[in-house]
Amino acid sequence: MKVTIVGSGYVGLVAGACLAETGNDVVCADVDPRKIARLLESDIPIYEPGLEPLVRRNQLEGRLKFTTDVGAAVAHGKVVFIAVGTPPGEDGSADLQHVLSVARTIGEHMNEPKVVVTKSTVPVGTAERVRGAIRGETRVPFYVCSNPEFLKEGAAIEDFMKPDRVILGVDSDEARDIMADLYAPFVRTGNPVLFMDIPSAEVTKYAANAMLATRISFMNQIADLCERVGADVSMVRKGIGTDRRIGSAFLFPGPGYGGSCFPKDVRALSHTAREMGMEPSLLDAVEAVNDRQKLVLLRMLVHRLGPRLSGRQVAVWGLSFKAETDDMRESPALPLLDGILEAGGSVRAHDPKAMEAAREIYGDRLYYARDPYDAVAGADALVIVTEWLVYRTPDFDRMRSLLTAPLIFDGRNLYDPDRMVRLGFEYHGIGRRRA
Ligand SMILES: NC(=O)c1ccc[n+]([C@@H]2O[C@H](COP(=O)([O-])OP(=O)(O)OC[C@H]3O[C@@H](n4cnc5c(N)ncnc54)[C@H](O)[C@@H]3O)[C@@H](O)[C@H]2O)c1
Repeated sequence: MKVTIVGSGYVGLVAGACLAETGNDVVCADVDPRKIARLLESDIPIYEPGLEPLVRRNQLEGRLKFTTDVGAAVAHGKVVFIAVGTPPGEDGSADLQHVLSVARTIGEHMNEPKVVVTKSTVPVGTAERVRGAIRGETRVPFYVCSNPEFLKEGAAIEDFMKPDRVILGVDSDEARDIMADLYAPFVRTGNPVLFMDIPSAEVTKYAANAMLATRISFMNQIADLCERVGADVSMVRKGIGTDRRIGSAFLFPGPGYGGSCFPKDVRALSHTAREMGMEPSLLDAVEAVNDRQKLVLLRMLVHRLGPRLSGRQVAVWGLSFKAETDDMRESPALPLLDGILEAGGSVRAHDPKAMEAAREIYGDRLYYARDPYDAVAGADALVIVTEWLVYRTPDFDRMRSLLTAPLIFDGRNLYDPDRMVRLGFEYHGIGRRRA
């Protein structure tokens, strides 16, 4: 099938590469000329495990093309995905200017009946607005479909290739049949393709992210309580996670959720609820707990070292908002780094993949360490923000000898507190008994 993806970021690029891999003839378009120039050279602008060989192979075999000519790309596809960004507006609502501008371009280049698919995360009612924007430009018939994306950065290829489910909001048999064909190769093991009405599909995406964010804020609040009462959140997590009604996934406390999705999607859902006359008190609480949690590592550091960090060096392991991605959007590392710098301290930062992203934000205000040990060399404390595998079993003796003081604040609870004490560290985790 001829497929067009407009927006070649984390979602568009992964979707394009995976749809090409199953034999479709895919054109990915983007307005960012630098991004497209790199992609034309098979130079992948983001880090996503497994993406580079997939793009390269499909490009070489002629099934995956890249262009800045959005109009020509639209003319190519029988199915046109809109996968552009939907950043938060000032009032927390999703900013739809990119989505609607793409919709108008689609209308202008509607050379045959097409299925137009909103893959970006968009508030309920957006597919109708997309339909209206296209209709304003063309008399050619077309169909709309809401197909929210559930991939996780860091495991995006696996998630797209083997989705837990595919959600398709449709209101025509044409869109239903074409989308069923397109997704058939990805659900051969029987995972469901759930067809539903378009508003339900749009709400499903926000409800899923809000639920996941709720679990994180819930566990972060339980972790806070555990610390205060001398309980260990790791045991509590196992204790509740074994209840099948609760399940064990997504119960890890940490430095607060970040990334390009949860923060903005929780806010956008609250905004929609308010517009509908609701008081979204649960969603507001989820966000408030998270805002507080994102400062937890800084608070621990300042509590221990004092509010003035001038002359202090702090090693920070992990800058991306989670492991296996270079994405620093809304990362909990940001308020930590800002806080250390504002308090006059200096930062020795390390991340396996996000150093380039950090450099774009902080320039030469950070020291970019060659490896995790270079980061701790001469530092007064180590703060762990991201759960990269490389930090899980480090050489503790080497770390202790390199740090000026054996002080660790671990935002991901990577180590056993008792063992850390035996190894001679002062170790602070999240929601764990003070060791
Ligand atoms: N990143 C994720 O993990 C994830 C997961 C599920 C859903 N989503 C949603 O998918 C959407 C895209 O997210 P992303 O992370 O891929 O964003 P991104 O910022 O990585 O990519 C968006 C791309 O769209 C391009 N773009 C903007 N306006 C354009 C236009 N008019 N024409 C062509 N290209 C244009 C940008 O240049 C950029 O390359 C968002 O709505 C997001 O909420 C993201």
